[in-house]
Amino acid sequence: MPTRIFLAIVVAAAVVVTALVLRERGEDKLALEAEAQALIKDFGGSLLGALKGSIESSGPVEAVAFCNKEAPGIAAQASRQSGGWQISRTSLKPRNPASAPDDFERKAMSDFVGRIAAGEPVASLHHAEIVEHDGRRSFRYVQAIPTGELCLGCHGSAIKPDVAAKIRALYPDDQATGFKPGEMRGAFTLSKPL
Ligand code: HEC
Repeated sequence: MPTRIFLAIVVAAAVVVTALVLRERGEDKLALEAEAQALIKDFGGSLLGALKGSIESSGPVEAVAFCNKEAPGIAAQASRQSGGWQISRTSLKPRNPASAPDDFERKAMSDFVGRIAAGEPVASLHHAEIVEHDGRRSFRYVQAIPTGELCLGCHGSAIKPDVAAKIRALYPDDQATGFKPGEMRGAFTLSKPL
């Protein structure tokens, strides 16, 4: 067998074995990425459904109170049902101070800001990485959330006075207003220990 072909076979075998080992260890990055995206689809769908239901049944002021009470619970429930993931939302301009980004999330979103300025569509932006912290490895995934028309009632620049008053009462340090349609409102942020 010519040496070139032999070497090609050895390299291909090494690649396959590495992929199998990583998969065995739950560290197949592409598979984790796909899993994160599927979880976001479910979580985002639950949040949006609950938000629309609340606005329709009780109006936007009550919907602010609803988001305040229910949004963190919906995230906690999504995490519990996910099989080991931590699922939540963050923003460079958070409403809930508990949603302020850590360094990893801030860096990912700052990078998205640059890519949006360069013309990339918000909905396509995501960042996936396997990170190590204090000797523990985890998979982290951040995906940008665009601002839609529905969001403007509570995150736009012409918020109705009664809605604005309710937001101020619940979130005195609110930074999450003044967004325009299509801008990045924040991001889904997921992590899974490996
Ligand atoms: C009825 C008012 C209302 C509407 C409409 C609304 N939000 Fe919010 N949003 C809130 C409230 C209240 C919070 C804080 C929830 C909490 O305490 O976790 C929030 C929090 C968030 C967060 C978490 C980060 C942060 O700033 O605390 C994101 C991301 C977000 N909203 C995106 C959106 C998007 C995208 C839409 C449109 C699809 C939207 N929101 C529509 C009221 C609203």
